[in-house]
Amino acid sequence: MMLINGHAQTNLPASDRGLHFGDGVFETIAVQAGRALCLERHLGRLVAGCARLSIAAPEPGTLEEECARICDGQERAVVKLMVTRGSGGRGYAPDKDALPTRIVARYPWPQYPATSRNEGVAVRICETRLGRNARLAGIKHLNRLEQVLARGEHDPGQRDEGLMLDDRDRVIEGIMSNVFIHRDGRLCTPDLSECGVAGIMRDLVLEASREVTGQAPECTQLDVADLITADECFLTNSLIGIWPIKAIEEKSLRVGPVARALQKLLTERGAMTHD
Ligand SMILES: Cc1ncc(COP(=O)(O)O)c(C=O)c1O
Repeated sequence: MMLINGHAQTNLPASDRGLHFGDGVFETIAVQAGRALCLERHLGRLVAGCARLSIAAPEPGTLEEECARICDGQERAVVKLMVTRGSGGRGYAPDKDALPTRIVARYPWPQYPATSRNEGVAVRICETRLGRNARLAGIKHLNRLEQVLARGEHDPGQRDEGLMLDDRDRVIEGIMSNVFIHRDGRLCTPDLSECGVAGIMRDLVLEASREVTGQAPECTQLDVADLITADECFLTNSLIGIWPIKAIEEKSLRVGPVARALQKLLTERGAMTHD
């Protein structure tokens, strides 16, 4: 099921700048019991992303209403919202009067194995590096070729997720997730001022950090050695919630209590799906 500019249809003009340049932003949202989880936060990030790209953001109320239509009666599903700058403009130059395109699409819920949340996942280090660009950093924009290349890398171990580094060997995030470590009693996550997507689940974990660890979290520079020597590592995104990391390449890690405490807290708050 898909709504384009509010109408049930699947066709978009080939002139749309989302197709030509990835000129737009998107959100991927978990739906449980007919409700899009953390919808307000997702709409807030979408509107903020549009502002940074100077795209005229649709009214959040319009997107909310379209989301409600597409979620109605769904026990479990995924909703993807996309806003592109629309059609028009000469080459790369945007047309100031372009009308943005809204796409609200529903997909079946991906059945992740329960073991990923309960026992953790093994991750690899991706060969594909993330480019640094402060003007795009943090935005969930539609240019996702780095993730497409990373996901396409050969992985004989068929691991669930890969860690992506920048050109300075700093760990930035997972292919589809953000990453946290717990060390010296404190939660740390990579600083995203030069690249990476500032995830909604990452924000929720940062906000819950003090409650769970008693300490303020830290956004800082981390490398692979920091992850391997941490007390715990875990991944976050809006669909998976929190997945502990049980191994990085050949190195096994401890699946610990902080990830479990955060899973419990955020599930109770209705931010994460539950069984
Ligand atoms: C590259 C990337 N980083 C981080 C995230 C996590 O974002 P969120 O917590 O908003 O789902 C995603 C989610 O799809 C992603 O694709």
